[in-house]
Amino acid sequence: MKPIQFRANITGTGKYLPEKVLSNQDIEKLVDTSDEWIQTRTGIRERRIVKNGQATAEMSTNAIIQLLEKRDISAEEIDAIIVATITPDMMFPSTAAIIQSNIKAKNAWGYDLSSACSGFLFGMQSGAALISSGQCKKVIVVGADTMSSILNFEDRNTCILFGDGAGAVLLEPSEEYGVIDSELRVDGSGGEYLKMDAGGSRLPASHHTVDNKQHFVYQDGKSVFKHAVKGMADISYQVASRNNLMGSDIDLFIPHQANKRIIDAAAKKLGLSDSQVMINIDRFANTTAATLPICLAEADEENMLSLGDNVILSAFGAGFSWGAMYIKWGLPAYA
Ligand code: COA
Repeated sequence: MKPIQFRANITGTGKYLPEKVLSNQDIEKLVDTSDEWIQTRTGIRERRIVKNGQATAEMSTNAIIQLLEKRDISAEEIDAIIVATITPDMMFPSTAAIIQSNIKAKNAWGYDLSSACSGFLFGMQSGAALISSGQCKKVIVVGADTMSSILNFEDRNTCILFGDGAGAVLLEPSEEYGVIDSELRVDGSGGEYLKMDAGGSRLPASHHTVDNKQHFVYQDGKSVFKHAVKGMADISYQVASRNNLMGSDIDLFIPHQANKRIIDAAAKKLGLSDSQVMINIDRFANTTAATLPICLAEADEENMLSLGDNVILSAFGAGFSWGAMYIKWGLPAYA
């Protein structure tokens, strides 16, 4: 008899967005920009920002608590916690360990994973492997970033683009639903275009690095834009087409939310109408690793998905790193 190959099915979602809203009008008071410029070039209207002292582990904990309450399961049932983030609470211990303690998941192990805007997709791939190998029964994959902690609010090229937030999904085995296919890529030659120079082992924090503003996001927007448009559109098309999904076969396309124009290019290549594309960039901006799980949690809450729907997730980010994943949705729409 052929052994059953389990898929990793998303059986729960949760999200947390800080209460504080930072609108484009608020940013107009900080740098030389305008609401009109930001909206037409990016699609962003506002973003959420943590209050003083709030950070990645706390936002993630809130997202997971929401997930566990929705599913009515105890944290003790969790086998592993994978946290995708580029803004961990600290260099070590891992944010996963802090979260494990916060939620009292006493039977869980876990780790952090750093791949910027593609981090959640990469975490999903790792979590799915733990499930389909039979090593774990319940894995939580978190995407969370406190981008405001590494933004220079005097740099109009970057500070308009990002926001804070956290999202989480629960993966469990299923014979029918879950992750069907994925394609993931890294090209480190793109590293110079989007990075934070200091604070690591090559350039530890010093008066010099602080004076030179090297603990902030640096981005060559034009170069990243060019690579992101092609990278996200091509890889989404590749995963969709090899699974015979085109146009109306895709129930929901959930792209990373970095720029509405990048999303539109990918949606066009897949032959999608607006109603098939998840958009929340207008309210939350680019929340880096948190974007995809926040989108998933919103789609779940708002009954945008039904059992068996074809979902394509897609992301592009620093590294460069990018990818796409095909999921057969395995949660019934709420009554
Ligand atoms: N407000 C007003 N003007 C701004 C501005 C702002 N916030 N930011 C940049 N500008 C200016 C630039 O200085 C430039 O002026 P110049 O021509 O006098 O030099 C002009 O606007 C045009 O800049 P350009 O870079 O061509 O704009 P753009 O249309 O490419 O949009 C980004 C800029 C950053 C929005 C866009 O490049 C982008 O989205 N890049 C990718 C972002 C991304 O995906 N990042 C994360 C990867 S996940």
